[in-house]
This record gives sequence, structure tokens and C-alpha cells, in this order.
Amino acid sequence: QQARRHRWEELHELATDYFHDILMNRPEGEPGRQYFSKRGVDLQTMNTFRLGYAPERWEGLLEALAPRGVRPEELAEVGLAIEREAHEGKVSRGYYDRFRNRVIFAILDSRQKPIAFGGRVLDDALPKYLNSPETAFFSKGHHLYGMNRAYQGIREYGFALLCEGYMDVIALQKAGFTHAVASLGTALTRDQAKLLRRYSRRIVVVYDSDKPGIQATLRAGEILKEEGFRVDVLSLVGAKDPDEYLQSQGSEKFKEDLDQAKPYIEFKYQVYIQDHSVHSAPEKRELVSALAGDILKVTSPVEREGYERFLSLELGLTLEAVQLEIASKDRNKP
Ligand code: UTP
Ligand code: MN
Ligand code: MN
Ligand code: MN
Ligand code: MN
Repeated sequence: QQARRHRWEELHELATDYFHDILMNRPEGEPGRQYFSKRGVDLQTMNTFRLGYAPERWEGLLEALAPRGVRPEELAEVGLAIEREAHEGKVSRGYYDRFRNRVIFAILDSRQKPIAFGGRVLDDALPKYLNSPETAFFSKGHHLYGMNRAYQGIREYGFALLCEGYMDVIALQKAGFTHAVASLGTALTRDQAKLLRRYSRRIVVVYDSDKPGIQATLRAGEILKEEGFRVDVLSLVGAKDPDEYLQSQGSEKFKEDLDQAKPYIEFKYQVYIQDHSVHSAPEKRELVSALAGDILKVTSPVEREGYERFLSLELGLTLEAVQLEIASKDRNKP
């Protein structure tokens, strides 16, 4: 198993170099260079993140690595090649590259070793991103994109900046937000939360501003809260995600917004009032009930009263009424 692990790492290193070399140096890499330059990714960033490009060829990686003693079966085993299926009784005719005509994001671990890849199409074809398959050595839910660099940034800033995607991490880290990591999609896992917990007890979530992003922020918040984090949320206005926000509003504006990130419970309140009317007395009661569970979990009396005061001001109620309503939802008390 140790030897297999070592070989698996070797193959990822070779593949990362292959994709990166095509992007940086080869005529075939032109579409990748154009794509990244269109998105504002410069040469230095391509180097820093070891970005790559998989050319439009069926056996580019297979052929490039063959002279270095890499067998097709090995590449298939680590998810970089796929075995052709036999058709109508004909025997299988070998293997083809998994990643073709995509820009490549190498996922690096904390020792800076590539352990998986994400590949993005250059247009709006689907699937937009293709990722390495789950294997004995890699599981998407156990890693965060950008962590190889962010663990230092997280220590400096005192918190981690959690976003959705590859391009968000690249844009954020480039803009100096070196504490940015991505959950590689909207579904933060408990393992990813535990990984973050090793570096910080505070997270600011900055997921996409679309509906899936908002729903995912709520779910991620639940998990992070359960894992003991202080969770704040930065809601982006006027852009879909951090990458686009930085392009349109700039990093100074983002920095100011970051200082205004809202506690998770206040974010939850904002989401609630977007979906519900809260004008009548029963509607206000329902809103307070909906948030009571979260507020009851707050152990600090100061923080708890802060939320209760927030609700009383927002809803035009006395602090006492809000507090009594919340306390009445406490199942641990008679
Ligand atoms: P998004 O759909 O928000 O894409 O997915 P994005 O990162 O903003 O992509 P660009 O800006 O259009 O290039 C967020 C993340 O979810 C994962 C990827 O990690 C992506 O960065 N994802 C998304 C997938 O793994 N597969 C998909 O098909 C889509
Ligand atoms: Mn390089
Ligand atoms: Mn998204
Ligand atoms: Mn996005
Ligand atoms: Mn994006």
C-alpha cells in the first residue's frame, strides 16, 4: 500500500507537470492561455497554482508519460485515463485521457503535492467541471482547494475564508486574501470542517450569491457551528461569486465588506425575511421560533443577548418579549 501510494503521488506529479508545461510553453496550450488571460489570470498565478491545460487529444497524457515508464493501466487506476469499452464483441482498444480540452486545476495537499485535478471546459458545455474520481487515496470531501497555501494565511488573519470554487480561491489569494479555501462545490463536509478546525476556530463563509449558494451557506453554517466555529457570512451584492466580485468591485471594497461580515444567525434572519412576510404578530412569533434553536445554543450570555436585542430592534418588540419567547423554546427547561 505504501508503494502504491508513492506511485500514485508520482503519477500526479508527472501529470501536473505535463498539464502545466502545455499551458505555459506549448503551441497546443494556446486555448488554455487565452481562457485564463480572458479571466484575468496572469502568468505568475498560473505558476503559483501550477495551473494547466489538457489539450484536445485523446491520448496526450498517455503518450507523454509512456516514455517515462508509465503504463496506461496505472493512469486508469488513478483516474487519469479511462479504458475504452469493448463494442459488439470487439476487444477493447486501449485507453484514453480523462481530461481533454479543459483547463486544469491541480489540488495540492499541505506538503504541496498534487493529489487530484479539476478540469474546466472552455465554454459553457457540461459538466462545467470534471474532477478526479474518488479513490483509496483521494476523496473530495476530505480536502479543500487552496489549503496548501492558505494554512499560513489563516494563521495570519485569524480566520479562514470559505468559498465555493477554484477560481474564487485563485482570485482571492491573488488579491491578498491568502486565507481563502474552497469546498469544491457547495456541499461542505464534516471532514472539511474538521480539517479547518486544525488551523482556526473562526470562519467567514463567502459562497455564491445565487440560490444554491445561499442554501449551501445555511448547511455549511450548521456543520461549522456544530464543529465549534464562530461563523460569519459575507453576502455578496452585485456579483455572483468572489471571483466576479473582485473583478468588478476590487479588493479594497471586498476588504471593507469582509469587516462587515454578519454573524451566522443574522444571516439566517436575512434569508428568512426574504422568503417570509414578518409584519403580523403571529409571523413575528414564527420567526423568533425559527431562530430560537440557534440562539439557545449560544453559550455566551453577551452574544446571546446581542441576538435577542437584534431581533427586538428588527421586529419592534421589547427585549423581554423576545427573550421570553426564546426561553420558552428551551426543551432542557421545564
Ligand atoms: P460554480 O458553478 O459556482 O462554478 O461551482 P465557479 O467556480 O464559479 O466556476 P466558473 O467561475 O464558472 O469557472 C463552484 C465549484 O463547484 C465545483 C467546482 O469546484 C467549482 O469551482 N463544481 C462545479 C464541480 O465540481 N463540478 C461542476 O460541474 C460544477
Ligand atoms: Mn512553472
Ligand atoms: Mn456556485
Ligand atoms: Mn461560482
Ligand atoms: Mn465563478
